[in-house]
Amino acid sequence: MEFNEEYAMDRREFAARSLAAVAGAALSPAVYASSQNPAASVPGAIPEPVIKNARFPEGFLWGVGTASYQNEGAWNEDGKGESIWDRFTHTPGKVRGGVTGDVSCDQYHLFAQDIALARKLNIKSYRFSISWPRIQPTGVGAPNMKGLDHYSRFVDTLLEAGIRPWCTMYHWDLPQALEDRGGWPNRELANYFADYAGILAKHLGDRITVWAPFNMPWAIAFMGYAAGAFPPCRTSFTDFLKAAHTLGLAQGEAHRAVKAASSKATFGSAYEMAPAYPRTDSDEDRAAADRYHAMNNVFFLEAAMKGRYPNAFVGEPPLDVMGFKAGDEKILYAPPDWIGFHYYTRRVVSDASKEGFQSGGKFSGTEIENNSPGGRDPYTRFRAAMPTEGPLTEAGLEIWPRGIYDLVTKISRDYDHPTIEITESGCGYLDGPDEEQHGRIPDTRRIQWYRQTLAELSRAIAEGARVRAFHAWTLLDNLEWANGYTERYGLIYTDFRNQRRTIKDSGYWYGRVAASNRLDV
Ligand code: FCB
Repeated sequence: MEFNEEYAMDRREFAARSLAAVAGAALSPAVYASSQNPAASVPGAIPEPVIKNARFPEGFLWGVGTASYQNEGAWNEDGKGESIWDRFTHTPGKVRGGVTGDVSCDQYHLFAQDIALARKLNIKSYRFSISWPRIQPTGVGAPNMKGLDHYSRFVDTLLEAGIRPWCTMYHWDLPQALEDRGGWPNRELANYFADYAGILAKHLGDRITVWAPFNMPWAIAFMGYAAGAFPPCRTSFTDFLKAAHTLGLAQGEAHRAVKAASSKATFGSAYEMAPAYPRTDSDEDRAAADRYHAMNNVFFLEAAMKGRYPNAFVGEPPLDVMGFKAGDEKILYAPPDWIGFHYYTRRVVSDASKEGFQSGGKFSGTEIENNSPGGRDPYTRFRAAMPTEGPLTEAGLEIWPRGIYDLVTKISRDYDHPTIEITESGCGYLDGPDEEQHGRIPDTRRIQWYRQTLAELSRAIAEGARVRAFHAWTLLDNLEWANGYTERYGLIYTDFRNQRRTIKDSGYWYGRVAASNRLDV
């Protein structure tokens, strides 16, 4: 596959071009004709018959994914400590619109109502995260019982609704006190995290059986310590490498801590993954795409499976810089019971081993990555870009349904058919209540996004991939990190002025899919 440089553009260029496209569409009969049969002309679109014939296995777990900081609000209640995301959003200039997660969807108080809505949508699996500073306000020491009581009630409410509780132990809200001790580059955090994981499993492990340590460990290290896009906003590749190693160690230690505290526990992951396609057929670009896959997709998976990091680097892995010590292999080694990962979009990767290194790189939101003028860093030496060959969602991600098929089949093949869970997948569109339709929310573009992506997932399952769950991101519109409230990923609309929830058309549609295991509903 060959890709044109021009496909990689940033969000502003996209907005300008899509306005031009809309203007053109009104004039051009060719565009009108093709809109009658989108699959015929939209790059990457999945043909209707494939969608109509798609089926999911009996007992497939239709789920949703959420995260504490994005949903809960109640940022300083019941003894909760400050997190790095509280500090970040309270710093002027960091978040679009200057908003915070102080209240967000107020799910800390409204969870019973939200779980009732999830039940109404036939949700079978609810992936949520626990806020570490609610449990240990400074990241160490005795647990705060009020924090534990909250999650205990939360889990009970899910079980009463017949929904499987799925716990991410860390979805980015590190206790600020631990950042003050050096953050993830400080290797001691692996032990603090294992203590925290043990506390969770001891108090909740009689009811939660599905655990993952980190949401997107690569992003925790890279966005926070190398790209500087997320808190603590550092821009040091050395700090990134050290942080990554602490996360690898913490993953192994937490696995053992959870298993020691709960005999019912199963342990997996919530990795971000994007299938990587080489920009050209050259050996160099192919090798660069392999390095991308090793670094961004399976770095922590390989660590757990094999007790060593995959070769994501040009030359030997910089183990010294990472702070790797003799015996660390044994700490890393902790093969997961199942493999969980997200799918949003894909990457096109090219070799940058002959280019200079420029720190940073363009990141927008959590998933968009685009060419920096030089290679991403002095070790991995590739350039990764999100192509724009397919159309983009309103949140700016390329729609490329085939990516989930390529990714799932690759992981399935490479790891000998493990049990897989899709931990997140979804799209941002801003549709709101239509007053002429009594407040209904006809978000047809989101339905179309899921139809195509799920059709491709069902194709991977039909070919033998053992995928048992899919978690749509997300149940309800929430705080989209540094983009504030400017992106809406929910199946349910949140009116942030009064906390009213309205099920979108996509939510009703997903409920029918969950009830029938088919997409033509
Ligand atoms: C993922 C994050 C999730 C949400 C979605 C849109 O990268 O895990 O919290 O922000 O992107």
